[in-house]
Amino acid sequence: MADPDLSAAIKAALAAVEIPGGGDLAGYGGLSEIIVTPGAVAFAIAVAPGMEAAFGPAREEAVAVTQKVAGARKILVSLTGGKPPAGPTFSHGKPVPAGKTAVPGIKRIIAVGSGKGGVGKSTVAVNLALALHAEGLRVGMLDADLYGPSLPKLLGLEGRPAIREDGIFTPHEAFGIKAMSIGSMLTPDQAVVWRGPMATSALRQLLRETDWGGLDILVVDLPPGTGDIHISLFQQAEVDGVVIVSTPQELALIDAKKAIDMLRRLNVPLLGLVENMSYFIAPDTGARYDIFGTGGAEAAAQKLDMPFLGAVPLVMSIRETSDAGRPVVASDGAGPEAGAFKAIAQRILAATPALRG
Ligand SMILES: Nc1ncnc2c1ncn2[C@@H]1O[C@H](COP(=O)(O)OP(=O)(O)OP(=O)(O)O)[C@@H](O)[C@H]1O
Ligand SMILES: [Mg+2]
Repeated sequence: MADPDLSAAIKAALAAVEIPGGGDLAGYGGLSEIIVTPGAVAFAIAVAPGMEAAFGPAREEAVAVTQKVAGARKILVSLTGGKPPAGPTFSHGKPVPAGKTAVPGIKRIIAVGSGKGGVGKSTVAVNLALALHAEGLRVGMLDADLYGPSLPKLLGLEGRPAIREDGIFTPHEAFGIKAMSIGSMLTPDQAVVWRGPMATSALRQLLRETDWGGLDILVVDLPPGTGDIHISLFQQAEVDGVVIVSTPQELALIDAKKAIDMLRRLNVPLLGLVENMSYFIAPDTGARYDIFGTGGAEAAAQKLDMPFLGAVPLVMSIRETSDAGRPVVASDGAGPEAGAFKAIAQRILAATPALRG
């Protein structure tokens, strides 16, 4: 069935779902657009503040009737208070962490973030995860960049994740690590506009409705900047630390500082700063060129009073292996590029031994 037909069929099926106060879900004004992807169906039900519990059974029923129409797709239905979830107050006082609960099957969670886009967060996240795996840890990755997922490409993930009968995802596996990305449920050209509450609900389900099967560490690849998704992750799960990626340029560092400020306000531990695309090694002569004035991030880390975790060179092989879905730590584990990521992983584990589980 084509996507528009399927969303119409789902809407028709939702007419069988009664809602509190009378009427049915299909005719309810708070029902969002129904997003259909090859692997998932997602929609939100906006309810008046305080009505979330009353709508719980309707949500469950909506999932059930949708599942019947949508076949093997994963059903993501969120109940929202009509507004994005209340974030922490930045203007005064410390934010109150609300409702953090452990994620089944995961001992520790670390996230990789940046202030600015395109600085190499996903590249660092994937290679760091593989380097932690090389240290003997059981590692998984969650692609929290719902707006621009990159794990399927970086890890060469093919097809959709399997969904068990009880609706739980079985994650992909690549190079010995587990991986979940909404990107595996989209067509290559499909851009999904997640509205705030839907995004946070999708993230929650990717995190909590996946059979991680026992991990020492989950590495989360964050979207750039400081948005709803970050706040939602830090509010719902105990994140043991964040690695900040920056390029050496001053502007990227200023943005990194903004992200760091947010994390401090949210009381999320900072593991340290990675300088990516730090220096260039000429492929012919092996000579090192500090094209952007290397050392910016190291000095910035000192100023910001956080550990400097290491520098990653700007080299074609990192880009090419990422593009080919064979990250350098997996494809050339003994090489110097992999060495840079492994040194970062070792520094993180040395500074926070509890991460070893
Ligand atoms: N050290 C490096 N050497 C060469 N190329 C790199 C390096 N790090 C990242 N790249 C390339 O830079 C581009 C951006 O990297 P990446 O997607 O990891 O950044 P990002 O910060 O996750 O971006 P976004 O903000 O879009 O999520 C990619 O093409 C990647 O292959
Ligand atoms: Mg990215």
